Order: sequence, then structure tokens, then C-alpha cells
Amino acid sequence: MIDGAKSFPRGFVWGAATAAHQVEGGNVNSDCWALEHASPSLFREPSGDAVDQYHRFGDDMAILAGLGLQAYRFSIEWARIEPADGVFSQAALDHYQRCIDACLSRGLAPVLTYHHFTLPLWLARQGGMTNPAFPDRFARFCEHATRRLRGFDTACTINELNLPLFIREPLMARMTSERALARIAAAEAVLHGPIDSFFLYTPRDVILNQGLTAHAKGRDAIKSVRPEIQVGVTFAVQDEQAEPGAEALRDQRRDDFYGVCLDAVKGDDFIGVQTYSRVVSKRDGSSGPEDGHPRTVMGYEDRPQALAATCRFVWERTHTPILVTENGWAGEDDARRGAFVQEALSELHGAIAEGVDVRGYFYWSLLDNYEWAAGYGPKFGLIGVDRTTQQRRIKPSAVALGDIARANALGVQALETTKVMGDGAPVGL
Ligand code: BGC
Repeated sequence: MIDGAKSFPRGFVWGAATAAHQVEGGNVNSDCWALEHASPSLFREPSGDAVDQYHRFGDDMAILAGLGLQAYRFSIEWARIEPADGVFSQAALDHYQRCIDACLSRGLAPVLTYHHFTLPLWLARQGGMTNPAFPDRFARFCEHATRRLRGFDTACTINELNLPLFIREPLMARMTSERALARIAAAEAVLHGPIDSFFLYTPRDVILNQGLTAHAKGRDAIKSVRPEIQVGVTFAVQDEQAEPGAEALRDQRRDDFYGVCLDAVKGDDFIGVQTYSRVVSKRDGSSGPEDGHPRTVMGYEDRPQALAATCRFVWERTHTPILVTENGWAGEDDARRGAFVQEALSELHGAIAEGVDVRGYFYWSLLDNYEWAAGYGPKFGLIGVDRTTQQRRIKPSAVALGDIARANALGVQALETTKVMGDGAPVGL
């Protein structure tokens, strides 16, 4: 124990997260790949080779472990594992087994996500989550993958299942210009149907029925194979606050965006909380970042304290253990990223001391990667990537988070600065 340090509970898990489509590259059988290549596209640029983690996973995991982090959350790509309806690729599963083994041999605990936004294109063309058969299809995929993969004990079924509850409407509302309507039309042409079958545009009733059922069936399928795996779903949770006089709007937003979902998964092994910022409900009926407050490049209010607030909220509503499965800061200013993480963790430490049962923290993201519709612009990574050479560059914030992880405490000085590595082992870690 270091003098003045804020220690985290014994066994607290420190990690970083990614998602297959955002880092692997070449995810050609997915709906996102098709949508990226629609013309005009909803996506600023295609994912292409991404940061080639499909081939470089061992090096990336070595950096993660070398930094002092102990866990890696990544997703297994359904579009690779089930390239056609009911047809499973053992070669794709072998790849993910190699990823799991690479974690284990470097002392990292693998945390698997089964669905992180992307779907196999064949399934999206059958309506995706809007298809009544979706929950069973998802459960079949979960069961098959769990039977074939060994060596992990924590799994997330669906990433940010509630996200469409609060982004579909604003996304649709923005889609009024001729250009935007052309983008939707091109997307619907590649999907062979309404945009609703792309996860981010899933209608509310579909999330609350098919989506929650898919989570439950997926969880049960995983546990039917390996009951000891800890299974949860992850939610996007913004810190919902209100100007005086706007509390009713805030409460409505809390109920609409989180309440039903949280109530449905109370009693799961854990709930994955993913927080980036806060949203303030205003007296004029609008909601958004606090006026005049600094923003990140994502346009979010730069508000590290949001994380502790959302963990308190989720804990009070569910009394179910929490894993922070994502939290991070996007921008070029790595010193600010480091400070953001420190401030978020300092507040989180306070929440844990009050009794909020938080079991781990995963920074988003391990690498600068493909930020969906925004392409390669926003940079969340602990590790920068030169996408022409795929060379990795460890940022000071990564070293600082590694120091926190090693100490299991805040208040320990970062020992090192940015290091550059090539394709081989990390330099000097
Ligand atoms: C998602 C990630 C995304 C991140 C930053 C979360 O909504 O799970 O895939 O990159 O936020 O926007």
C-alpha cells in the first residue's frame, strides 16, 4: 500500500477493450462492410484493413500485458463465425481460440463479447434484430461458439443493447436533406430492406422485446454449455442530470433509456456499464452537454465524473455487480486523456468506498481504431497506430493506466513516457 494512494478492492480487474470490426480489418461478410461501401454511405470512410488486429493480435496483447493491464475485452465476429445461415466456420473459431490462448499465455484474462454492433450480412438481410427468429439465431450462435471456445470465464452477450433507444431518433431526425435521404436509400438497397435492421437504427419496441429476449437466450445458451462463465449484457449509460426545473425530463429519460433494460437484467452475473459523458436536461425541453463546458472531439461534454455517477445509478436500481466495460476519452491531447482517466477513477474509487459493487475497469479503447460512421477521425486509443505501416505507438496515458493497474491504486507516479514499437515485442516494457 502506497502512502496517500487510493487502493481498489483486491481482485479488481484492469483492462482495455476493442471490438472486432473496429480493429481487425477485412470484415467483408458483415452488414457494416456492405454499408460502408454503399454509395453514398452513412459512413465517412470504409474500415478497410482497420488496424490489422486480425494478424497482429499477439503483438497487441503483448503491449497490453507489458503495460501492466490484466484483461482484454474483445469481440468474436459473428459474420466470420457464421458466414451463412446455420453454417459455422471452424477456421474462424480457431482464430478466436488463438486470440484467447494469446491472452492466457501473456497473463491476460480474455473477456468475450458475442455481438458488438455488426451482424452477418445474410442475417441483416433477413431483418436483423427485427426478425422474430433473431433471439433463437443469436442463442444458436452463442451456443456453438461457447462449445468450441475454451479458456475464458467472462462474457458479454450484446454490446450497448440500449443504445438505439437514444440514438435512433436523433439519427433519423437529422436525415432530412436530399443527401441524407440518398444515404438511407443506398443503405436500404444493400440491406434489402428497411434501415431498422442495422443495429444502431433498431426501433425501440424491437430492442425491448427481441433484443432483451436475445440477451436472455444468449446468456442461457452460454451457461447451458459452461455454467461457470460469468455472463452479462452491456449498456450505454450517460450521466443524466437536470437544470433546476427540468427534473421530470431527466427522470423520463432515465426510465426510457435505461430503466426497462436495467430491470430486465437485474440478477445477471454482472451489468457492463459504458459511460462517456453526461447529458443535461434543460428547462426548454432540450437535452445535451452543459452549455459552455469543454467538449471532446465526439462532441460530448468532457466530464470524467460521469462514470461514478452512472455506476451509482445502475447499482441503486439493480444491486447487481458492475463491470465498467467501456470508458474513455477521444482526442489528440493525450495529457488530457491521462487526466480524464485519473479523474474518472478517483470518483469511481469514491463510489466503491460508498458500497457500489464495481468489479473492474476496461478503458475504451486499447487502440486508435475505426470509430464507425466517424471513420478513423476520433482517437480514443491508449495506443496510436500509423495506418500506413500499422506501427503501434504507446501513449503516456497507457503507461499511466498500466501503473495504476499494477499498483491497484491511484496516486502512483507514471514512470515512463511514450515508447515506439515496431511489429515485434514491446520496447522496454
Ligand atoms: C461502443 C464503441 C465505440 C465507443 C466510442 C461505444 O458506443 O461500444 O464501439 O467505439 O462507444 O464511441
